[in-house]
Amino acid sequence: MVDVAESATRSGGPQPAILFVCLGNICRSPLAELAMRLEVARHGLEWTIDSAGTGDWHVGHPPDPRARAEARRHGHDIDSYRARQVSVDDFARFSHIIALDRSNLADLRAQAPADATAQLSLLLDHVPGREGEGVFDPYHGDAAAFAETWMDVTTGTAALMRALIRT
Ligand code: 4NP
Repeated sequence: MVDVAESATRSGGPQPAILFVCLGNICRSPLAELAMRLEVARHGLEWTIDSAGTGDWHVGHPPDPRARAEARRHGHDIDSYRARQVSVDDFARFSHIIALDRSNLADLRAQAPADATAQLSLLLDHVPGREGEGVFDPYHGDAAAFAETWMDVTTGTAALMRALIRT
């Protein structure tokens, strides 16, 4: 497991700002963003949560209709989310950048500037027993694939929240 608690979440420290990153920012990371927003709200917190893609193919697009349907199935609307590409500023603006799969993590490490302050990790590394695993990629799948992705991101973000609020 990765230690993400640091001093940031101890009382009085700066609040975490968390960026979720996948390839296109239309399937996995918008669902992770939603799941983490729900965690933050459930805990009565006001942290900055966002998502982005390593690629630029879908910049400005809303999430994939199947991801939007999966969010709606759980009573939430992510239609207003818009895809964007990771920028060099993100490595300073966010305290934590969370990759959805290992390839995303490798891409992030390769583009991180020398003075990056964000802590990089893989989402499922925060889940005991699932270290090294990527969140299920539903891009070539159906509604059931998106349901599996939702399970992965809710498991991952709940574990991430536990790690971050640990004192
Ligand atoms: P995401 O899924 O990275 O979870 O948003 C994908 C979105 C687009 C593509 C691949 C995966 N694409 O090849 O365009």
